[in-house]
Amino acid sequence: MPLLSDIKNIPFVKWLIFFRHKQIVLKRNAGKNLMLGKDNSVGTVKFGLNNLLTDNITMSNCSIGDFSYVNRNSSISNTDIGKFSCIGSNVSIGLGIHPTDLVSIHPAFYTNKKDHYFAEKDHFQEYEKTKIGNDVWIGNNSIIMGGLTIGDGAVIAAGAVVTKNVEPYAVVGGIPAKVLKYRFTQNEIERIKGLEWWNWSVEKIKLNKDKFLSVEEFLNSSELK
Ligand SMILES: CC(C)(COP(=O)(O)OP(=O)(O)OC[C@H]1O[C@@H](n2cnc3c(N)ncnc32)[C@H](O)[C@@H]1OP(=O)(O)O)[C@@H](O)C(=O)NCCC(=O)NCCS
Repeated sequence: MPLLSDIKNIPFVKWLIFFRHKQIVLKRNAGKNLMLGKDNSVGTVKFGLNNLLTDNITMSNCSIGDFSYVNRNSSISNTDIGKFSCIGSNVSIGLGIHPTDLVSIHPAFYTNKKDHYFAEKDHFQEYEKTKIGNDVWIGNNSIIMGGLTIGDGAVIAAGAVVTKNVEPYAVVGGIPAKVLKYRFTQNEIERIKGLEWWNWSVEKIKLNKDKFLSVEEFLNSSELK
């Protein structure tokens, strides 16, 4: 007798499972212009408008704001993502936590999630909510630990391992990630943050779209409609 897992690995069966899953997710989110590639595994996810997930993406227990997108082979769990954020390929966000100061690192001793575990109750929260702001860019192959907050407008350089919260409009990189620079001056950052343009209506953004090409013009414009 073949095992169920063997059957699920037959290429046609795999394709069929993913195809069916995609149809269910698209139907559930009808009217939101959700764009889904192939081989995605989407658990509980609250989508906004105009989201794009390319291929082979795993997302569970997440929300994702209008216009934000995720590129291929990325894995995101327990994370709230703002609007207009851009997540690259091979990115991992919201990693689980094992306490490092107990005798054993194995969850059998501190959670009771599985029948064969020893703990009678959960002694430790393995997953904390991660927050990704609005207008954030996350470079390829980066890792963001669970429970962190990445501020609005921040940039995570390719290959970074982020272990601490990231301030708004900071560009961070390296292992562990450190601030490389800020996108704008502190004064400009405060003013852009104050405008919260990502919450404007699409009509208002469209009307002012050319001003997004120059920070100076954007901030000095008295005609932001
Ligand atoms: C972080 C990043 C945005 C910086 O780009 P930039 O604004 O043009 O800045 P610079 O190239 O001038 O780099 C600024 C500093 O950061 C360093 N740096 C750049 N990329 C880095 C990285 N990935 N890791 C560590 N340091 C990095 C530079 O060496 C430079 O250091 P210096 O000031 O000591 O010379 C860019 O390098 C990056 O990683 N982009 C992500 C690309 C990507 O993943 N694309 C696919 C998804 S769309």
